Amino acid sequence: ITSVAVLTSGGDSPGMNAAIRGVVRTALSYGITVFGIHRGFTGLLQNDMELLSSASVSNIVQRGGTFLKSARCPEFHDPACRKQAAKILHTRNIEALLVIGGDGSLTGAHLLEEETGIPVIGLPGTIDNDIFGTEDTIGFDTAMNTALDAIDRIRDTADSHERHFLVEVMGRNSGFLATHVGIAAGAEMILVPEYSVNIAEIALQLATSRKAGTGSSGIIVVAEGNEPDLTSKIAHELQQHGLAPHISILGHIQRGGRPSGHDRVLASCLGAVAIEYLLAGYSDIMVGVSNGEVVDIPLDDLIRYRKGLDPELLKIALQLHK
Ligand code: F6P
Repeated sequence: ITSVAVLTSGGDSPGMNAAIRGVVRTALSYGITVFGIHRGFTGLLQNDMELLSSASVSNIVQRGGTFLKSARCPEFHDPACRKQAAKILHTRNIEALLVIGGDGSLTGAHLLEEETGIPVIGLPGTIDNDIFGTEDTIGFDTAMNTALDAIDRIRDTADSHERHFLVEVMGRNSGFLATHVGIAAGAEMILVPEYSVNIAEIALQLATSRKAGTGSSGIIVVAEGNEPDLTSKIAHELQQHGLAPHISILGHIQRGGRPSGHDRVLASCLGAVAIEYLLAGYSDIMVGVSNGEVVDIPLDDLIRYRKGLDPELLKIALQLHK
């Protein structure tokens, strides 16, 4: 392999820059030419890319977002567009593609390989940590800590004013981020899409502990992927019980910011290992982490299986409530 391209796709996540740097510097060390594609698959379809040097990736390891830019690309669902993408790569003599993104982006990468034979290697880049086969994703640790920082601040006000706060965190359809954030924030309750909730029961429980003097304030972490409007429904129910809850939606604040040391190391290692796997002849795989070790996972598995939330983890979270 003498020439590869790298792109970041889908929602940006802190550490994507470090992953690009890992890919670029490792590939260059083997004398491989690297193209950086702008704005994910959208840029690929527009043949919008630049040649990357070692200097192109200087001074980016500490930056959030992705300097190559990212986009969601619905057109890539169309096989004709994937064929067009392969043609562009062939025209430029690019022999393999590295895709850094979430499960939608990695599905696109898999289909590109399957239909056109272009070797692809995926790297898990998402704050949601919802990708099957890997226990960690680039950006998850930073997003968790960003959410925690926000909740710790909210807690000061909740405590001072004896209020309850419903804090909505990202995670798309998965409660992974919410569960981790909830445990680390000492939340009084964690509501995730994987487990249905009884709104009336929740409200009663919070109102009872307030009356008993054991819960004059509280943080309820709500995953965004719950049933529509769950947060406002709970707030309404709490009002019926005489509580005046506040809603705080953390939103995109969780996506940006300087990557944590953990995410920088993870991203750098996965970037480097992705090139090693490619040179060893692997394709149609994602590099991920299992039992603390870097592993390869067939991209096909990402489509077939869903990463489940560890019920033990949620049990622990619930046991730790006062
Ligand atoms: O996948 C990352 C993520 O931030 C999810 O947690 C969230 O549901 C989604 O992306 C938001 O996407 P967008 O920034 O395109 O609105």
